[in-house]
Amino acid sequence: MAKPNADEHSGRFARISIVALIALTVISLLVAFLWLPSVHADFRAAGVWDSICRAAGVPSTWGGQNDERSSPVVATNVVLLPAMAKRAPSDSIGRGATLALNCTMCHGAQGMSRSDAPNLAGQYPEVIVKQLTDYKNGKRASSIMMALSQNLSDQNMRDLAAYYASLPKARTAPTTYDETLPALVRVGDPMRNIAPCISCHGGVDQKIGAPWLEGMPKQYLTQQLTLFKQGERRNDGELQMRNVARLMTAEEIESVATFYARKGLPRRE
Ligand code: HEC
Ligand code: HEC
Repeated sequence: MAKPNADEHSGRFARISIVALIALTVISLLVAFLWLPSVHADFRAAGVWDSICRAAGVPSTWGGQNDERSSPVVATNVVLLPAMAKRAPSDSIGRGATLALNCTMCHGAQGMSRSDAPNLAGQYPEVIVKQLTDYKNGKRASSIMMALSQNLSDQNMRDLAAYYASLPKARTAPTTYDETLPALVRVGDPMRNIAPCISCHGGVDQKIGAPWLEGMPKQYLTQQLTLFKQGERRNDGELQMRNVARLMTAEEIESVATFYARKGLPRRE
């Protein structure tokens, strides 16, 4: 009776092949969707389904999940708008002058500091509003300024900014291109990807939100550049300053700070 025997054989063979095929499929699925993705550096153990979606290339936002890279810690809550850089009406300047009586002790009677606090006279209005808002929200650290900004409303900040922007500019004008400027200020360092300071802080190219630096106390400039370098000051929204300062040496920080501080010292009244 050879026939049933052959049937039995082929039947068993078919079963074994099916089982083998299923096993192979399961193993390759496990390898492709779980094991391979898990050895990637950015693997997150967020469940089998997540791994499958990632391996298949489904954008993580579809599942309503956001990893830290797509929602980083916010550097600043301030959105800079061109209108913030406009000249304010005189009633705003008047209110600002009254509020500024609380600030003269450190920032000087005419916004020109006699200590190591930054000068505020002539500072661009959007810079003052942004920095005060960042202190208030804890985005820029300074025990004094964080405490003082708590009681300031948005309108108070706009008034203070209007007042300081209106003060006579005791400092020299922002630096414009000239062959004698230090290399970092004038052309930066393309090899290290350092953009020239005047491309953002210049009299011609003043990027909105980039402060007026000329005549600031040297100690203040050195301190702020060092804080950006170390990543301790992080309120520059698009890392504009951290990218510049990170690659600078202590000597370079010292020399650009000396350059900007000498450009117009506080007037001795
Ligand atoms: C007790 C001294 C003191 C008083 C009073 C004070 N400030 Fe300041 N202010 C400082 C110091 C110091 C800094 C720099 C802090 C830092 O390192 O971030 C500063 C920074 C600032 C900055 C940032 C400037 C920049 O170029 O980034 C602004 C704007 C400012 N103060 C506005 C004010 C206003 C407005 C008042 C009054 C309501 C005031 N400050 C009162 C000491 C003071
Ligand atoms: C890509 C544009 C850009 C370049 C290039 C740049 N800066 Fe800045 N810088 C900014 C902006 C924007 C801010 C304000 C950051 C913030 O919002 O707090 C700033 C802030 C600063 C501050 C802090 C001032 C204050 O009062 O708070 C210093 C000091 C400074 N820059 C120095 C420099 C120097 C020196 C160079 C050249 C070596 C330079 N920056 C190059 C954009 C730039």
